[in-house]
Amino acid sequence: MTAQLIDGNALSRTLRAEVATRAAALEARGVVPGLAVVLVGENPASQVYVRNKVKACEDNGLHSVLEKYPAELSEAELLARVDALNKDPAIHGILVQLPLPPHIDAHKVIEAIAPAKDVDGFHVASAGALMTGSPGFWPCTPYGCMKMLESIGCELRGKHAVVIGRSNIVGKPMALMLLAKNATVTICHSATPDLGAFTRQADVVVAAVGKRNMLTADMVKPGAVVIDVGMNRNEEGKLCGDVDFAGVCEVAGWITPVPGGVGPMTITMLLVNTIEAAERAAGAT
Ligand code: GUN
Repeated sequence: MTAQLIDGNALSRTLRAEVATRAAALEARGVVPGLAVVLVGENPASQVYVRNKVKACEDNGLHSVLEKYPAELSEAELLARVDALNKDPAIHGILVQLPLPPHIDAHKVIEAIAPAKDVDGFHVASAGALMTGSPGFWPCTPYGCMKMLESIGCELRGKHAVVIGRSNIVGKPMALMLLAKNATVTICHSATPDLGAFTRQADVVVAAVGKRNMLTADMVKPGAVVIDVGMNRNEEGKLCGDVDFAGVCEVAGWITPVPGGVGPMTITMLLVNTIEAAERAAGAT
């Protein structure tokens, strides 16, 4: 078998066009959807990420404000900025780029963001909303994975989904989203003995570990859907995921490539969450 590709770039284009249409509809009512992106310090990867987020906003009719601060910014000063953005009616979504410098308590800063503007879905209130099935914002990466599964018509009811990884921003919310769609969900992690014994039973595997080639062909059930959240570099510095792509392609039914899979979906879902926040604030939904 040769797996079919789930193209994150193509799906992103479709979803971003929908965001642009919704942004235009809001603008016609005098509301410009706005995202504030806050960057503290000079982490090179963070600088690239925030630049991409701001550009994606501009390309799709969202207003964005990039606030850059030196690494020496105090926690109190950052909390004061978050408070001001919470109160700013032109801002519908707030994203504080992580990691923050070590003298700043990231948890405290995230908890200071108004849940109605928490477009990253990192606030405890957002996590609680996901857990209980209440309205709230879903973290962008697992939300993007769900959209990819939806795009191929993957019916999750009664299926066995195995999530590898238990982070608060991918593994745990991913498991809850799959559960909400009536999948039987197993969460595997670094202390799971014989990972393959679990993944071989899976109709859907989501690999979110951060380790190259950790999912190989012998660990995958023929025809399974494989979603690769990994973002690693090989010896030549080339971007690669957690999945042995060439090998698993021979066994899986569907697979996401890296690059061009989950990666572009994360920013796309940030735009979706931001337009949703603006529509809720404007009373449009
Ligand atoms: N750092 C790396 N990815 C992310 C993300 O999705 N959101 C935020 N706020 N920081 C990040």
